[in-house]
Amino acid sequence: MLITGAAGGQGASHARGFASEGAKVVLADVREESGRALADDLGEQALFITLDVSVASDWDAAVKQAESRFGPISILVNNAGVLAPSASIADSDPADWDHVIAVNLKGPYLGVRAAAPSLKRAGGGAIINIASTSGHVGTPMIAPYVSSKWGCED
Ligand SMILES: NC(=O)c1ccc[n+]([C@@H]2O[C@H](COP(=O)([O-])OP(=O)(O)OC[C@H]3O[C@@H](n4cnc5c(N)ncnc54)[C@H](O)[C@@H]3O)[C@@H](O)[C@H]2O)c1
Repeated sequence: MLITGAAGGQGASHARGFASEGAKVVLADVREESGRALADDLGEQALFITLDVSVASDWDAAVKQAESRFGPISILVNNAGVLAPSASIADSDPADWDHVIAVNLKGPYLGVRAAAPSLKRAGGGAIINIASTSGHVGTPMIAPYVSSKWGCED
């Protein structure tokens, strides 16, 4: 299985949980030091890969590396996510919009695109997108986050 944003927070917790159930876990993140430390801690059943989820070529390389170590991927967890600084749309910076959408919405799209053939080779599996209640009910002052989470739910 492959979990994005696995170097800390909920992604690290997912990785520990799945590993404790015996899963072979690929931890993917832009934060190399903490990601590698967690993989070392989990031992032989874990592998850390540097992956920026918003970059298509990173995904292709990550899937290849994951498969060569553990075989086809049967579970993909699109967990990596970022928040923009709190601001009204009128006061917001378009660069923040682009960054949040690139990580939170384009990231899961690229992940499914890159990993789907591997899941097929595994004979099927599961894709889990970590969304947010913000995607259901909205949250003021974080429009790009709300939009990204609504976008990856259905
Ligand atoms: N914590 C909450 O209360 C909460 C609530 C609802 C949804 N979520 C969602 O759960 C997920 C995890 O949240 P968290 O609180 O653990 O966040 P976090 O900030 O603790 O961890 C996010 C991880 O994603 C990584 N990341 C950021 N940009 C990346 C990129 N471009 N490529 C790869 N990795 C990248 C970070 O390095 C970090 O390790 C997010 O998608 C978040 O939106 C969290």
